[in-house]
Amino acid sequence: MKKGIKIVTIGGGSSYTPELVEGFIKRYDELPVSELWLVDIPAGEEKLKIVGSLAKRMVKKAGLPIEVHLTMDRREALKDADFVTTQFRVGLLDARTKDERIPLKYNVIGQETNGPGGLFKGLRTIPVILDICKDMEELCPDAWLVDFTNPAGMVTEAVLRYSNIHKVVGLCNVPYGMKMGIAGALDVEPERIHVDFAGLNHMVFGLNVYLDGVSVLNEVIEKMADPENSLSMKNIAALGWEPDFLRALGVIPCGYHRYYFKTAEMLEEELESSNKVGTRAEVVKQVEKELFELYKDPELAIKPPQLEQRGGAYYSDAACNLINSIYNDKRDIQTVNTRNNGAIASIPNDSAVEVNCIITKEGPIPVTVGDLPVSVRGLVQQIKSFERVAAEAAVTGDYHTALLAMTINPLVPSDKTAKQILDEMLEAHKEYLPQFFKKAAMV
Ligand code: G6P
Repeated sequence: MKKGIKIVTIGGGSSYTPELVEGFIKRYDELPVSELWLVDIPAGEEKLKIVGSLAKRMVKKAGLPIEVHLTMDRREALKDADFVTTQFRVGLLDARTKDERIPLKYNVIGQETNGPGGLFKGLRTIPVILDICKDMEELCPDAWLVDFTNPAGMVTEAVLRYSNIHKVVGLCNVPYGMKMGIAGALDVEPERIHVDFAGLNHMVFGLNVYLDGVSVLNEVIEKMADPENSLSMKNIAALGWEPDFLRALGVIPCGYHRYYFKTAEMLEEELESSNKVGTRAEVVKQVEKELFELYKDPELAIKPPQLEQRGGAYYSDAACNLINSIYNDKRDIQTVNTRNNGAIASIPNDSAVEVNCIITKEGPIPVTVGDLPVSVRGLVQQIKSFERVAAEAAVTGDYHTALLAMTINPLVPSDKTAKQILDEMLEAHKEYLPQFFKKAAMV
């Protein structure tokens, strides 16, 4: 018999944790988790305690022998882990607010994982992930790192390129959400739908869609042309697509493609909503406050439905299905971020891509795609270049490399604006970017 599984979740105080706990409870028969270690930092201690107590109540209610440990000692937790999941946010939601608000001052999209915000989230996050990787090498060298921390594509790229951890999978709920959205639009059970996903994280396309094995791509495109079915996420304004553009594109874009194909309207929407209701981080802060009030209730022992207001719906299904398939060598198809290895011809072999993979106990094996359609190939390649330069900037703390990343991002309109935004954001996030400031101090 296989031994019980030890899971370590870094950023365990996140409001998403009940999702994960529910996922493990539902799958216990196949995936016998014996220990769940929720790790956080002192700034997240209070949240960790609240959500950790709820996790304990959920497990107790389910009557399962899963030990839930709460700790701020990451190294203690990592010892002999089987799976390490990450869901932390360096600088908490305040940093996200800055990522969203500062670019807007320059009439540039302010978003958590796209444009300047995505760059800065990467600059703050990558050094921390690489530190976790070092600890893993020492304390649990056989464990899998399942990264949900954004920007997940850039983070996976950095781990593949700059750490000795090879067992890494970057995870996102977008492909899962798209599949569910398509099933909803066609009014069929999701199990009957298969989508050929390929691209990068938050830059993924559905190249074809099958219902019971028969392509229904054109039907789905027609459904999406209706603003009611435009397949967005809770965190992205669901502005309708131009129907003729969708028909011409001929593949299914993800919600985030709105920032690239509808930049002007999305910017206008962001400028307006940031004044009226606040940016997404500000809205999420309020949602979180309410969620944690609910979590405090000692009678609550389930994941509250209010959690669905967050963009990360289906996160636990994505994460737990992945862990389940690795553990049980299921060889089913899931869409994850992994080393390309030739699956997408237009992207370097050693880069991270988001693509359908067969999930085995040796990890994901990407399904060969060939070339991306010429209409989207360039954008995907440009974002990959951006991610690689951004990851290099995060590791080296080199100002010029960061400026290069900012300027080549397609959402930034000019080198001058890039420099202005970069300088303001470096200053605003100084506390979380020691790699950029240590050097300056030494000169
Ligand atoms: C989507 C993305 C996630 C992101 C989330 C944000 O689901 O796939 O990568 O973290 O939205 O949601 P939030 O509720 O924090 O805005």
